[in-house]
Amino acid sequence: MSTILELQGVTKAYDQYTVVDNFNLQVTMGELRCLLGPNGAGKTTTMDLITGRQKMTSGKVIFNGRNISGMTEHRIVQQGIGRKFQIPAVFKDLTVRDNLQVAFTRTTNPFMNMVEFGRGGGRARLQEVVELVGLEKRLDELGGNLSHGETQWLEIGMVLTQNPKLLLMDEPTAGMTEQETQKTSEIFNRLKGEHTLIVVEHDMTFVREIADIITLMHLGKTLAEGPMDEVENNPKVREVYLGTEGISDAA
Ligand SMILES: Nc1ncnc2c1ncn2[C@@H]1O[C@H](COP(=O)(O)OP(=O)(O)O)[C@@H](O)[C@H]1O
Ligand SMILES: [Mg+2]
Repeated sequence: MSTILELQGVTKAYDQYTVVDNFNLQVTMGELRCLLGPNGAGKTTTMDLITGRQKMTSGKVIFNGRNISGMTEHRIVQQGIGRKFQIPAVFKDLTVRDNLQVAFTRTTNPFMNMVEFGRGGGRARLQEVVELVGLEKRLDELGGNLSHGETQWLEIGMVLTQNPKLLLMDEPTAGMTEQETQKTSEIFNRLKGEHTLIVVEHDMTFVREIADIITLMHLGKTLAEGPMDEVENNPKVREVYLGTEGISDAA
């Protein structure tokens, strides 16, 4: 099993306040890692540091054997790291199919879109992606008519058109119904293996269904790491969530 992503002593400090503190992480190719921890633990910042959205104070990020520290956001995407943001990226007045096509070719110019789509093997990839995110029956629907869950799945699909080796998602099930969350876990389990995923999530039922390994962050550091059952029963973890129902209260 080979490592696809490695964080070595990654640190982000604002003045005297250290948000991500000498943080180390190793993710194996094809695994689904859940990043947990209370609010302010440094989860989103860690994703920002991996994707180059924020600059590290110190440390190193190795992706696919390559040091990507200090690369621009754009170049990091080109290395094969995709990210789904919480801010909606779907065009409301385009169909699901057209949204995916635009994501694939990265142009809204209809002519260029057609040319690039034909050249890049778009049709086959689009079909694959549509099946992965389960939107086969919604291809002709306008983006604006999708439910909250469907919008999230379309966005995941849009990131997938670029075929990222590593996919980062911050709270993907936020605002979803129980049924939508269930379907999302099925999608993630389909993505595993072919893609490596890092998912920040609070819904412990969901985490239990998708996670291979959990990394629990606290104050910018790893508090515990391992399979769900192990982390849950770790006394240090119980201490952090003292006075609460336990890990499932992590918000
Ligand atoms: N620009 C900033 N200046 C100072 N502190 C910041 C800044 N951005 C985020 N923080 C702090 O960094 C900590 C970690 O934030 P974040 O990574 O968003 O945590 P999480 O996603 O785990 O909830 C928080 O305490 C937050 O207040
Ligand atoms: Mg966050």
